[in-house]
Amino acid sequence: MVEHMAKAKHLFITGTDTGVGKTVVSAILTAGMGASYWKPIQCGLEEQTDTEFVREVTGLSDQYFHPEAYRLAQPLSPHAAAEIDNVKIDLGRICPPEKCLRGALIVEGAGGIMVPLNQEDFMIDLMKKLNMPVLLVARSTLGTINHTLLSLQALRGRGLEVLGVVMNGPRNRGNKKALEKYGKTKVLAEIEPIADMTSVDLTGKFKECFCKDMPK
Ligand SMILES: Nc1ncnc2c1ncn2[C@@H]1O[C@H](COP(=O)(O)OP(=O)(O)OP(=O)(O)O)[C@@H](O)[C@H]1O
Ligand SMILES: [Mg+2]
Repeated sequence: MVEHMAKAKHLFITGTDTGVGKTVVSAILTAGMGASYWKPIQCGLEEQTDTEFVREVTGLSDQYFHPEAYRLAQPLSPHAAAEIDNVKIDLGRICPPEKCLRGALIVEGAGGIMVPLNQEDFMIDLMKKLNMPVLLVARSTLGTINHTLLSLQALRGRGLEVLGVVMNGPRNRGNKKALEKYGKTKVLAEIEPIADMTSVDLTGKFKECFCKDMPK
């Protein structure tokens, strides 16, 4: 793991898309760093929520999990889910959990960085408000170069500190090289498909994927 990531106690986990692996990466980081986890905006309550998933697979106790600021019923973009629930997402009401800020904290976004939250704000505005260093989760496969470079450009354009990219999926050396070269970034970890999230040793995964450059 690169040194500045070790120092960053609070991380915002965003992605190039929905379903790209933010929650899986967040679970690995939460377990490996002994961090708390917070998902400020949850869209979709019928299936297991992201917080419930991270709690299940890490086995950490309730004190590591902070309630969502918004729990919206529909699995849609936040602006649309909020409209259906007759709620207006107010950035002023989304504040990091005080007690979690003392230790390491993993914050997971919803969707990608340009999903609208309401008439004015996008996910990137919430990220700017929270102002935490960002990890960008990207798929490893075809299509990732375009999505990742666009996301990096938007994040940097807003002055957010991007610690690097996590590639999720089967290893792809060519895409890794391209992301680092054209994105002027570092691929901090490559997470290969995990057969069973509920039985995998997540702390071991963290060490294997994020700490491979550290002296043993
Ligand atoms: N490396 C992996 N190994 C096995 N399963 C994975 C892996 N990455 C993602 N998945 C599975 O793919 C699905 C989508 O991943 P995940 O929920 O982490 O995406 P997300 O970016 O958090 O999505 P959302 O935008 O809904 O929060 C989940 O069922 C997850 O368990
Ligand atoms: Mg998720």
